[in-house]
Amino acid sequence: MDIKTIKKEVKKQINSAETLKDLDDIFKKYLGKKGKITQILRSLKDLSEKQKKETGKLANEIKKELESAVKEKKYVFQSADWLASKFQDIFDISVPSKKPLVGHLHPITLVRRKVEEIFQQMGFSVVEGPEVETEWYNFDALNIPKDHPARDAWDTLWLKPESQKLLLRTHTSPVQIRYMEKNQPPLRIIVPGRAFRHEATDASHDVQFYQLEGLMVGKDISVANFKAIAKEFFQRFFNKEIKVRLRPGYFPFTEPSFEIDVQCVICGGKGCSTCKQTGWLELWPGGMVHPNVLKAVGYNPKFWQGFAFGMGLDRLVMMKYKINDIRLFYGGDLRFLQQF
Ligand code: DAH
Repeated sequence: MDIKTIKKEVKKQINSAETLKDLDDIFKKYLGKKGKITQILRSLKDLSEKQKKETGKLANEIKKELESAVKEKKYVFQSADWLASKFQDIFDISVPSKKPLVGHLHPITLVRRKVEEIFQQMGFSVVEGPEVETEWYNFDALNIPKDHPARDAWDTLWLKPESQKLLLRTHTSPVQIRYMEKNQPPLRIIVPGRAFRHEATDASHDVQFYQLEGLMVGKDISVANFKAIAKEFFQRFFNKEIKVRLRPGYFPFTEPSFEIDVQCVICGGKGCSTCKQTGWLELWPGGMVHPNVLKAVGYNPKFWQGFAFGMGLDRLVMMKYKINDIRLFYGGDLRFLQQF
């Protein structure tokens, strides 16, 4: 057999050897008294001077390789055997290892991203604003004057020293003002973010929660546009045909103001415990931007108009995943979080 073929054969066999005995057998087969390589080395004398040199060199190389490969493998096998015999009562080395714990997105983040995607498809930009606000942006510019009763209702968390009049924003609406101050209409934005209120917690209230503010300003933006956008959004979000209705509401920064109700996504409008048997879910407050708000940012209300809304993002998440307590979102309980 050609010496090069032998070399390949030897390598293959060493690699697939599984026991010490296999290795001994390979060693004997090639380097034993009657081994293939031994025989080649013995017959060298019958070859020409040139052949002798080439074949001899190659045969010796294989011999060395084989010897060291066998030595190395023997060592590996012996150590494994030794380990196994030593520890067989302690651990089972054939048990698959534990999977590392991999994190995942919080349900609010999952829903926020989905909502952003839907609004972006409808031409809205995603904008952010500060969580620590001034009185002006949180109240005054939004047409909530100093003595207005609505201010009390916000139950604001004021920062110290109180003389600075800094607060944790009570809603995402101040970002409307910040954005309009720096940009000219026509514009379409949404503002997902955290808001804070100084109130007792229960299943549907927490001191912090997420809102989704929206604002669209242009030349001929009407209530009809608002209703169409709301319907389109909910249909894409819940992936089915959904009816919406407008009821009158009140907010200082919109005129007229509405509550947009969505046909209950749980019972389809028949009445169930989620919609308190009404068939409708109160999900989305909003209205047409008040002329005073437009004036506060330097827009001419005779020329520009638009709508704004401020949806509770947590409520949307609670609807989607049928979660009945808002405090679960912020409690950090892994038994809850790992379900998403
Ligand atoms: N900021 C209001 C709140 O926190 C929600 C809201 C209502 C926002 C009407 C709006 C709006 O932009 O037009 O309750």
